[in-house]
Amino acid sequence: MHRRSILRFAGASAALLGLPELGWCRQAWSLDPFSLGVASGSPTSDSIVLWTRLGTPALEAAGLTAKPVAVTWQLAHDAQFSRLVASGEVQATAGLGHSVHAEVSGLEPARAYFYRFMTGTTVSATGRTRTLAAPGADVKRLRLAYASCQQWGAGFYSAYRHMLAENLDFVLFLGDYIYEYPASRPPEVRPTTGGWITTLEGYRSRYALHKSDPDLQAIHAACPWIVTWDDHEVQNDYAATNEGLSGTPVEDFMARRRAAYQSFYENMPVTRAGFDRLLSGQADQVRVYGSVAFGRLATLYTLDNRQHRDLQACSPNQRPGSARVDPTKCESFNQPHRTLLGNAQERWLEQQFASARGQWNLLGQQTLFGRRNFSTTGAQLLRNDGWDGYPAARRRLTDSMQQTRLKNPVILGGDIHENWVGHVLSDYHNPDCEALGVEFCGTSITSLSSSTSAQLTKQLEVNPHFIFADAASRGYGVVELTPTQLTTTLRAVKDAKDPKSDVFTLAKFAVEPGRAAVEPA
Ligand SMILES: [Fe+2]
Repeated sequence: MHRRSILRFAGASAALLGLPELGWCRQAWSLDPFSLGVASGSPTSDSIVLWTRLGTPALEAAGLTAKPVAVTWQLAHDAQFSRLVASGEVQATAGLGHSVHAEVSGLEPARAYFYRFMTGTTVSATGRTRTLAAPGADVKRLRLAYASCQQWGAGFYSAYRHMLAENLDFVLFLGDYIYEYPASRPPEVRPTTGGWITTLEGYRSRYALHKSDPDLQAIHAACPWIVTWDDHEVQNDYAATNEGLSGTPVEDFMARRRAAYQSFYENMPVTRAGFDRLLSGQADQVRVYGSVAFGRLATLYTLDNRQHRDLQACSPNQRPGSARVDPTKCESFNQPHRTLLGNAQERWLEQQFASARGQWNLLGQQTLFGRRNFSTTGAQLLRNDGWDGYPAARRRLTDSMQQTRLKNPVILGGDIHENWVGHVLSDYHNPDCEALGVEFCGTSITSLSSSTSAQLTKQLEVNPHFIFADAASRGYGVVELTPTQLTTTLRAVKDAKDPKSDVFTLAKFAVEPGRAAVEPA
């Protein structure tokens, strides 16, 4: 495969770089080292991260599990790699799970590129990626899919196979890429090997299990991803430095969190900068939140509401984790200092809002933003793990949208394994108050919801700022933006337990700029 280009490249590489200790041209692999696929992500107008990670079976067969392996990457204008743009060599080390992150800069804006990796005589699959438009550019159209919650044992990734046909500029992943436990409702559709995970090796294996899926590999290879995380990348319902609620408690939760954070880095196409202090043993914290601009058309703020939050309020029996709480019976619920994003991220976001230039302002964050009262009898019952459990923090965010006159806010979320569509209110206690923007909280790729359709119908009645809710469907949303309209199409697979499942359009919505109103389209 690609023999001529490999040989041509071999000459250039040897001349430029000299042969590394484990020179790729000397290593013949008996198993495919690129069995976990390729990916790109964290795009800017002039840079992109190219990712791969060498598979453990191939490393074991080659006797290289503890050794560094030289991996060459190439970026080109064409799929044949005849017009090379950049190339380089990375040592994939055991210390970083034999992951490869090539952070390529100096690229042209709004341009498609092809990339691949090589080690020994083996060439990876070819990925396709794209840089963002230049700052201030007049972008006419943007198409993205948002997705979350892909529990391995709960179903197959047919949703991603259909996502391939959506002609996307990028995928926005909003958390729960892995789960630290097997599917909560057995029998599993496919077995989660490794059971409960708490260690670096465990997290690495769980990511490798997910990355073995051909549909997930294909959508990673098709376009860049912009990613954040939620709780299950570490542990169910964890809150900053507080252990969550799943499995046997570990002796040292912060060691578990460090392992999980490192493994996230190893398995995602993200830049080293946000993880550098963690990876060099200098800090427990990492930087996941950030923003990217799509010319003047839109800005996307990707948030992290797990790492910096206060503990959930009034979970029963002093246990950690989420619960449905009556806020009138919970003294700490409304405390003004309680934060979901942490003070630094809150300040950063407010500054971002103050300098926002985009026609649309997208917030990619973990969970449902608007108030969802679970009680349909006139009482209040709110989930304390999401924004509902941090009402002062939500109010600060909507206040800062109002004060900065943020144009056309659109909040995207995940986590709850249900589709919810509605209006962002300046005051969720006052249904007649001004709507500031719109919200699309997306369903899961596979993970199950515990709500019934009848329950959601009743909940919509008592939460009228939402116009649509669906618990039955697995899938993703596609957002298409132009300067004059936003449309969101909710796509659902017929049966996530069927690896060949078809997809259908569950609902479609439109938003016009200047009007904080979402309507069926
Ligand atoms: Fe989830």
